[in-house]
Amino acid sequence: MLLLFLGFLAAAIANPLQQPLTVASQLHGRFLHITDFHPDRLYKPGTSLDRSCHRGKGPSGYFGAEGSDCDAPLSLIDETFRWIEDNLKDEIDFVIWTGDSARHDNDEKTPRTADEILDLNTYLSQKWVDIFTQNRAASVARLSVPVIPTFGNNDIMPHNIFDEGPNKWTKRFAEIWNPFIPEDQRHTFVLGGWFTTEVIPGQLAVISLNTMYFFDSNSAVDGCKAKSEPGYEHMEWLRAQLKTLRSRNMKAILMGHVPPAHSSEKRNWDETCWQKYTLWIHQYRDVVVGTLYGHMNIDHFIMQDSDEVRIASADGQVSTNSKSDYLESLRSQWSSLPSPPTGFFEELDAELEAGAAPDTLVKKGKKEKKKRKFLEKIGGPWAERYSISLVSPSLVPNYFPSLRVIDYNITGVADVANRPAWYDADADHTPLETESEDASEPEIQKKKKKKGKKGKKPDFKVPDGPSPTAPPGPAYSNQPFTFLGYTQYYANITRIQEEIDANQSEDPRIDFEVEYTTNDDVYRMKDLTVRSFFQLAGRIAEEEAQAETDSSADWLAKKKKPMNTIWRAFLERAFVGYENIDDLD
Ligand SMILES: *[C@@H]1O[C@H](CO)[C@@H](O)[C@H](O)[C@H]1NC(C)=O
Ligand SMILES: *[C@@H]1O[C@H](CO)[C@@H](O)[C@H](O)[C@H]1NC(C)=O
Ligand SMILES: *[C@@H]1O[C@H](CO)[C@@H](O)[C@H](O)[C@H]1NC(C)=O
Repeated sequence: MLLLFLGFLAAAIANPLQQPLTVASQLHGRFLHITDFHPDRLYKPGTSLDRSCHRGKGPSGYFGAEGSDCDAPLSLIDETFRWIEDNLKDEIDFVIWTGDSARHDNDEKTPRTADEILDLNTYLSQKWVDIFTQNRAASVARLSVPVIPTFGNNDIMPHNIFDEGPNKWTKRFAEIWNPFIPEDQRHTFVLGGWFTTEVIPGQLAVISLNTMYFFDSNSAVDGCKAKSEPGYEHMEWLRAQLKTLRSRNMKAILMGHVPPAHSSEKRNWDETCWQKYTLWIHQYRDVVVGTLYGHMNIDHFIMQDSDEVRIASADGQVSTNSKSDYLESLRSQWSSLPSPPTGFFEELDAELEAGAAPDTLVKKGKKEKKKRKFLEKIGGPWAERYSISLVSPSLVPNYFPSLRVIDYNITGVADVANRPAWYDADADHTPLETESEDASEPEIQKKKKKKGKKGKKPDFKVPDGPSPTAPPGPAYSNQPFTFLGYTQYYANITRIQEEIDANQSEDPRIDFEVEYTTNDDVYRMKDLTVRSFFQLAGRIAEEEAQAETDSSADWLAKKKKPMNTIWRAFLERAFVGYENIDDLD
């Protein structure tokens, strides 16, 4: 340690300009997730919502047309970055930026061009560089925090169609995102549009998935089953990444644009990709901290059930319906989650806090059949049968412009002395790309074979699960890197427009305000572990208990059934507080 420090001092003296490059700034335990900016240079205030807010007379506002399909004016983009610079810049450790950084192709009078898509992406990339460039005097500008981008289905042309790489998009974006893609990942990125960044070198990585290869609407590719498909390659790469991270005792956050929606109303991914993904996340549950997506524009979360993985299964059916039908379908999915015996989780928490080992809990449950059965169903005390995808609502004001700040646990991480800065990580270790084939056939394969109807042999390598002695992963029990909660911010641009009209101000500003936090009185989540989401999902799915005090006459008099307040809040939040929930069917 002393030697390291002296070496560092010597280096700093030799080249003072490098000093800020070799010491990481302090960690804050927070990061920003922002998605679906959809900037549009053609947007004009006072134009028609039916003409993409490009022309005609209409109500489009200065900062956007909330509640419409119009894209975002640059005034909104610029003010959002201004707000981030003033309010978040020095409080966050990295930025998860999940794509769709160009306008939609929704105006037949002015079709998009490839140059326009690249230009808008360059515009946003430059904004991040402007905010986070430190040491502008140095010959190579360095970002003070990593920003991790990914492809959205509107960042390519025609939208949704993404051919196998290398292609012109992976090549052009390798240039545009040059400040964000670590040197040792550029080659990989050009091949497939995916990469890994060590946001806390040697400890925490962010894996940027190219979900275009999983996306059911991408007709240029065909899922993740055939070896010739880029989706297959992508899953192999992901497995190798997670395996290497496990061997280095590191953790990973996964991110992408299109989330793995998998309900009766909506499936976004090819089923063969969903199956592998869910299996990988389950088998690497000691590594994966959480997964973050955009695209849907509505605020919600998805629970993956590893029991739905059928290794040799065929493609699923895809149906697309309205957003509220989709949310209803999630709720109905959650209503069939195993229901805990009364007070079960409180009891479990108390016992864990008192220092009980998880396996003694299960044993103890043996005496009490109900509890044991319940634990068996959910995959043990940490609900390891499930995994969670977090979907953040958009910046583009389909409802209100929105962004999310996630708190994560940095206990014991922040004080690592001489922790290298993220951009110096390349030098510290061998790249993540190499992997040797593992020989042993894992447990789950046997298990699934027994369970599966036909028990066909999978035509791919099933990853090993965690070692039997490994403690539960960061998505399951609160530990370093576990997501603790998030704050959802929004800008009420209806109100701001009223102020603009009243103020006649020449320099209108946006202040994002807190919409809600996950530990508020409604969600009451003590952290964002899978078990916390399991409990929240259960509460959302509950039928409103008819209040005992209500006389039945009173109750009958009411036209509508009383609505579960948690479900109601979930719906309101899905639409960023913009929609009147009573108006939805
Ligand atoms: C972070 O994890 C540690 C266990 O590693 C725990 O003791 C601590 O309470 C957690 N911090 C927060 C803020 O929850
Ligand atoms: C937004 O502002 C409008 C106009 O002031 C107000 O009617 C509405 O309730 C506000 N909505 C939210 C979610 O803040
Ligand atoms: C309008 O003026 C008020 C009072 O000066 C100010 O607080 C507010 O931020 C202004 N609104 C906008 C959108 O600039």
